[in-house]
Amino acid sequence: MALYALGDLHLAFQSDKTMDVFGKVWRNHEKRIEKNCNKMLTDDDTLVLVGDHSWGGKLKNCEMDLQFIADLPGKKVLIRGNHDTFWNAKKTDRLNEMYKGRLFFLQNNYFPYKDYALVGTKGYCFEGRDTIEHADMLVEREAKRLKASFEAARADGFEKFIVFLHYPPTSIGEKKSRFTLMSEVYGAEQLIYAHCHGEERFHDSLMGNVNGIRYSLVSGDYLEFKPKLILA
Ligand SMILES: [Fe+2]
Repeated sequence: MALYALGDLHLAFQSDKTMDVFGKVWRNHEKRIEKNCNKMLTDDDTLVLVGDHSWGGKLKNCEMDLQFIADLPGKKVLIRGNHDTFWNAKKTDRLNEMYKGRLFFLQNNYFPYKDYALVGTKGYCFEGRDTIEHADMLVEREAKRLKASFEAARADGFEKFIVFLHYPPTSIGEKKSRFTLMSEVYGAEQLIYAHCHGEERFHDSLMGNVNGIRYSLVSGDYLEFKPKLILA
């Protein structure tokens, strides 16, 4: 029984989007995801998919992508990515009903793994594409959602946490953020994130041990689509 994570699958079984232009690592990447997961995971394991699952847009155009994920071995837990427009954060309960027993959508809730609570949300960091004011507003909203996830787990008696964010926990150049400080307050052991594609972005945020938390980037191309072992 082990916990794994992988982000940015960017599946497109029902759309003509391709990631091939982003380099060799993206060629037939869905086949490599399938092969690596089948080789590394069993049905006793838990796999957290850390956002940007599908290019489909609307839910009806993401069904094959979600089915592909459901067919991977183990229990699958999903975090929202910036491209996952099929997933309205406020309607997460509906998705959880629809995919009950196949996928778990983590938003304002948590997923138990041994004596840990897996908590998380999409997160946000400033990337120069919007105004600072807009970025601050999104960070505030996402921090509230992460707190709701921590509090749901704590209300059920959990004291050990692993945090999953789609966006890096800090903007470039930042050493701390609402997300890192909150994770420290709750005593989280690890913080896992994705979203950064291409070598030039792999070191945008924290990695390794910082103030008692282990930070890991799990974006698909960074890991060459091999899920990362988070907890044995
Ligand atoms: Fe992303």
